[in-house]
Order: sequence, then structure tokens, then C-alpha cells
Amino acid sequence: MKNKKISDEEKKVLLRLKQITKKIYYHNKLYHEKNRPEISDSKFDELIKENNFLEKKYPHLILDNSPNKITGGSASKKFSKSTHKIPMLSLANAFNKEDLKEFIERIRKYLNIDSSQYIEFINEPKIDGLSINLLYEKGNLKYASTRGDGKEGENVTANVLTIKDIPSKLKGSEIINEIEIRGEIFLTREDFITFNEKLNDKEKFSNPRNAAAGSLRQINPNITKLRPLRFLAHGFGLSTKKYDKLSNYYSDLKHWGIPTNNLIETSKSDNGMIKYFEKINYKRNTIKYDIDGIVFKINDIVLQNRLGSVGKNPRWAIALKFSAEKTNTLIKKIDLQVGRTGAITPVARLDPVNIGGVIVSNATLHNFDEIEKKDIYVGDTVEIQRAGDVIPIVIKVIKKSNKRGPQIIIPKYCPVCGSKTIRENDEAVLRCGNKIDCKAQILGQLKHFISKKGLNIDGFGEKHLIQFWRLGFIKNYVDIFKIEKFQKKILQLDGWKQLSFNNLLESCENSKKIQFDKFIYALGIRYVGETISTLLAREFISASNLINNSNIKDTLSNIDGLGPKAVNSITNYFNNKVNIRIVTELIEILDLQSYKKPNLKNKFS
Ligand code: IVH
Repeated sequence: MKNKKISDEEKKVLLRLKQITKKIYYHNKLYHEKNRPEISDSKFDELIKENNFLEKKYPHLILDNSPNKITGGSASKKFSKSTHKIPMLSLANAFNKEDLKEFIERIRKYLNIDSSQYIEFINEPKIDGLSINLLYEKGNLKYASTRGDGKEGENVTANVLTIKDIPSKLKGSEIINEIEIRGEIFLTREDFITFNEKLNDKEKFSNPRNAAAGSLRQINPNITKLRPLRFLAHGFGLSTKKYDKLSNYYSDLKHWGIPTNNLIETSKSDNGMIKYFEKINYKRNTIKYDIDGIVFKINDIVLQNRLGSVGKNPRWAIALKFSAEKTNTLIKKIDLQVGRTGAITPVARLDPVNIGGVIVSNATLHNFDEIEKKDIYVGDTVEIQRAGDVIPIVIKVIKKSNKRGPQIIIPKYCPVCGSKTIRENDEAVLRCGNKIDCKAQILGQLKHFISKKGLNIDGFGEKHLIQFWRLGFIKNYVDIFKIEKFQKKILQLDGWKQLSFNNLLESCENSKKIQFDKFIYALGIRYVGETISTLLAREFISASNLINNSNIKDTLSNIDGLGPKAVNSITNYFNNKVNIRIVTELIEILDLQSYKKPNLKNKFS
């Protein structure tokens, strides 16, 4: 766009084009790189359609960064679908030695093989990446697709061809008509850290697996090419060459130039399998990529075929998972955090340590009883555990500090607002007793209100919320929808421009259409999580029934699934004048939709 004079109408169109473009990029990124879309496909398609309509009508206003220019041709966010010749299964999990022994027993029974005969297993690490299906026809890569739902995946051939470990042609004479080579795409921890460091904060991935998934699902293969993706094969689907042993297939792969795992071994007994498990677990931190267990597979393909599968899991293989990752570190200090319900949680600030590729510097101590029971002091070396994405926990003291000071004291007053703390009889949790104006609680409630499961105001990050809250622009839920009042002041703040402010307003506007159950959840009433919110939405049908109910306690007591604590908490909430005022105002501002039963079919398709 040149800087010619444009009409008011054109100005509006230009603004809209900019907004749509921003949204398209945002949702595109969530879908392709982060693997967590926030809007439905049809909503996304509406954006594309609107963009294309405006571009067609006002070709002179087409932006330099138009989604159509950048993605080449049409801005479609979808890869074409591709059906696997043989479904891609998933592995059943075992969590301990007993589960593994049972697995072997089941197999023996099924095949009628007694313990005097051995069954040979292939043992290999379970890589924490994403599975891929490569169809080679006469040695040439025909297509590559993601696992998808197991039957049908996304065709990511162009991207896969940029991965050095995956040849477009298989080497050697042993070329066969058709074979689906399957394996794992992943990033090494070191490559992940190096490449993630180069991304700005908003773009960073939380772990190598997400980074690999995001990198593979780029629309532009040139971007995939810049990401150091690796591949290791671990199986096959359809094959016109018949194999009697998995190990023979692995030897073929080597000749063809396809990498296989160099840690693969075979075992003939459960003892051998457990030894392998323990050996790999011991050196897990020295393996360059993330693994989360060991896969045991029967080597004999005839036996594999006899065993077949149950549901989506083959009977001939199992994944024995490593237990959560643990490590030792020092507690530098203990802070107290006040949550949205007033719960005061002691948090250990740690000497930062790397657990399985993630740097951990905080761990929860849950509550004061735990601190006492585990005899934890600042300066102690403790064992901490991280499992999945949950906040790390302190397990036990490994080495007492040699100059232990006094143990952390149970605070009599809230560390944020100074009000008296209380401890309800049957609870281990200590709470701030100020239900009206404890800043930590109010901010926590506001964060909860705008969060994804609540109003889902996507343009309203926590950072902005805290900024506006500190400046006094937002004191309660209603103020969020009146933020326009502070436009002048906000535009004077660092980092705010008219466009970003407009986007914020639009986000707030979009969030107004909300289902009744989500609205109830967003209010953050104690003991009212998603399940109870749904129960309430079903029972009360509209928000006015909730606030204009003189007998709310009786109605609540008759709802199946509501315990006395929830009944009391909800009753108290709706007997409070301030709450009633806020909820009444919200009902007027929002476009509340009556509760709809979730469509399960869509959810799992
Ligand atoms: S064998 C039945 N071997 O784990 C499927 N899978 O649910 C046969 N995985 O999506 C898979 N490392 O992508 C096998 N060494 C390994 C593996 C492995 C990772 C993945 C695989 C699958 C998931 C299991």
C-alpha cells in the first residue's frame, strides 16, 4: 500500500484487513506450530473468506503481509489427508515389573507357550516424539503422513523431505514394491535448546516434543528445513516383502540408509527385559533425546500376527514407562503464595536444576503440615520430582543444612493483605480470611475469569491484566468490559498502539458470547469447578434464575452431585450483595448462551 489519500471507508477496510491478518497468523501458529487450536476450523475459514472477499473488492488495499502472499496461493491451514494402508496402532502401557510380567503371561497363555520355551523380545527406548508413516514405492518416497487418528493422518511429505535422516530414495538392491516405514520424528535436547533460544518469548516451545510437532507442521517447508529434526525407524505397516523377524527388517533398514536406534537389544526372559530397562533408565540423562520408557516387542512376526491387536493396542508389544523424573537440589528460600481462593501455599525457591530437559527453579511444598512432616528447612538439599507438565514437588530431605535456622512459621496474617489467616477444621490448607479485598485473591479471580476455560479473552494476557489492575483500571469483572474508558491513558503506556488497543477491545467483544456453564465456572466460586458449573447450568438454565432465587439453598441441596461444601459456598456467593450486583451487570453486558450438551461425536472425531 502506497501512502495515497484514502477514504474513510477504505480506512475501515484497511483496519479490518490488518485485524484479520493478525488473527489468521495467530490461529495459524496455534494450529500448526503449537498444536493447540483455539477456534474451530469453520471459524478460521470464515476469517480466510472475509480476507479474500475484501482483497478481491479492494485489490489496492492488499497488505504486504497478506496471508495469501506469505503462504503462497491460498491461505489454507490444512494439510491434505492421507489414509494409512494399515492403521497405525498405539502401545499399551506398563508401569512396573508386575505389569510387565503379566503382559508376558498373557502372551504365553494366548499362544499356548509354556515357560520351558522362551519368547524373544526386541527392547528399545520409547522416544518422546511424534510418529510418522513413510510410504516407499519401489524405493521412492511416495508420501509421508502423521499418525492422525491412526487411520488417517496429514500429508506432510514436503516437510519430511527436508529431514536429513529420511531419504527420498532407498539405497541398495533390496528394493521392494511397497512398504510403510514407521518411526519417530524428534529433536535432540541440545538442538531444541539452541533453536528455542533464538525464538522470541511468545514463540518458544515448552519441550522438544512440542517443538518437533510444531516444526513438522509448518506450512512452509523452508521453515521445517531450518529445524534440526531427526528420525529413527521403529516399525512397519504394509510391506510387500514378508519378514519373519523384526530384527531382519531392522537390518534391511540399515542397508537402505534409514536410521534405527543403536540402543536396540534382544532379551529372552523377563529378567533380561528388566535389566535392559534399568540400564537405559540409569543412563537416560546421557541419551541425547527425550525418552519416556522402554518398548518391548516380540521379534517373531508370525507370533505378532497370531497375537493381533485388542482395540488400538497390539498384543505383542508394550511400553514400560519410566517413573517420574527426580533430582536433588538446594532450597534457597521459601515463599508464600496466595491463590484466588485465599489458599496460602509455601513454595520452595530452588537452585535451578535440569530435569529431563526442563529447568526447574520452583517446587510446591503444598502446605505447612507437609513442611513439618517432611522436616524441611531453608538450606536443605531435597529430592524433587517432576511428572509431566505438573508443578514439581519436593519429595524428601536428602541432606540437612548444617546451619539450620528456624523452620518456616505458619503465618498468622496473610503475606499480601495482612488479614488474619484461618484454617478450616477439616482442611490442611491455610487461607487468608479476607474474602473482600485481598489483592492476591482479587487478581487471582480476575486471572481465572479471563482464562481459557472461563471467558477465554484471548487478547487479554495476564501481563495486561496485571498492568491495568495495578493502574486501577480494572478492579472487578465488569471493569474488563469498560476498559475503553481508559483508552487515552492506555495509549500513553509503553507498548500500546491504536491497533493493539482495538484488538483488545475486539477480544473482549468476542468473549461476550459465552455458554452459561462457562460463565458460572468463570465466576470462580469456591468448590465450583467445571463439573459443578455444568450441573448448575443444567439446573438453573438462566443466570437470572440463579440470582433471583430466594430458596437457592433448597434448590441446590436437591441437585445430585453437589456436596454440602459446594451448596454452602454457592449459597453464600449468591447471598452476597456485591456479588449479586456484579453478576447482574455481567448478565446485561454478556450475551449468555443457554447450556448445550457437548457433541461427543465431534470431540473424538
Ligand atoms: S512401536 C503399536 N517403538 O509411541 C505401535 N513406538 O503409542 C508400534 N514410539 O505413537 C509402535 N518410540 O510413535 C514403537 N521404539 C518405539 C517407539 C514408539 C516411540 C511411539 C510411537 C507410538 C507411541 C505408542
